[in-house]
Amino acid sequence: MIAPDSIKNLIAKAFFDKEHPSYGQVATVDTKGAPKVRTVHLHYIAEADAIAFNTHTQSHKWRHLEKTPLISGCYHDTFRLIQFRFEAKVELVDPRSEKWKTLMNSMWPLMRKEVRAAYWLDSLKKAVTDKLPANINLDARSFNVGTVICRPYQWHIYELSEKSFALGKSTLHTLENNQWTSKKISLLHY
Ligand SMILES: Cc1cc2nc3c(=O)[nH]c(=O)nc-3n(C[C@H](O)[C@H](O)[C@H](O)COP(=O)(O)O)c2cc1C
Repeated sequence: MIAPDSIKNLIAKAFFDKEHPSYGQVATVDTKGAPKVRTVHLHYIAEADAIAFNTHTQSHKWRHLEKTPLISGCYHDTFRLIQFRFEAKVELVDPRSEKWKTLMNSMWPLMRKEVRAAYWLDSLKKAVTDKLPANINLDARSFNVGTVICRPYQWHIYELSEKSFALGKSTLHTLENNQWTSKKISLLHY
């Protein structure tokens, strides 16, 4: 289970909101052991009960995750006024995966058309500014895009209050032996 019942709906809503895209930051560990962070478009995927994002299979993050399949993620939802932090184990889904074909097909249209065009141009070894050949259909997936499935084992949920800092609420949810435990924690540290 991706999260305890008490926050599951919140996560499903915040990470699948087309009006307020969940652009969050994910950190990987690079080949020298140093942290590297960047923004990605995170999605809650009901089918896999996971948080997932698309990325290039030749990207740095993909290489880092092959070596160290762990992610530290953070998304500040300014619409709901909640900071979501998570620690997760990841599964890298190769574009040719049969097992996750349906998932990958549903992830592809979640990318903007112009990004899909850029992936196609890259796979054809063309520049991003080149014109897309007429025979390329943007509904079809290009095979340089992989999906990163994140299975969180910890969530830190910080709900801000519009009224005052002190009315904010911070909770830590940890998965251990297949069981989630939740506790209220300080707004300043844990
Ligand atoms: C708003 C926003 C959304 C982004 N979404 C993604 C994404 O979903 N997947 C992705 O690979 N890169 C995304 N990027 C680009 C990454 O932040 C990053 O620049 C790129 O993936 C290269 O990262 P890497 O070299 O660490 O792999 C996004 C950037 C921005 C600013």
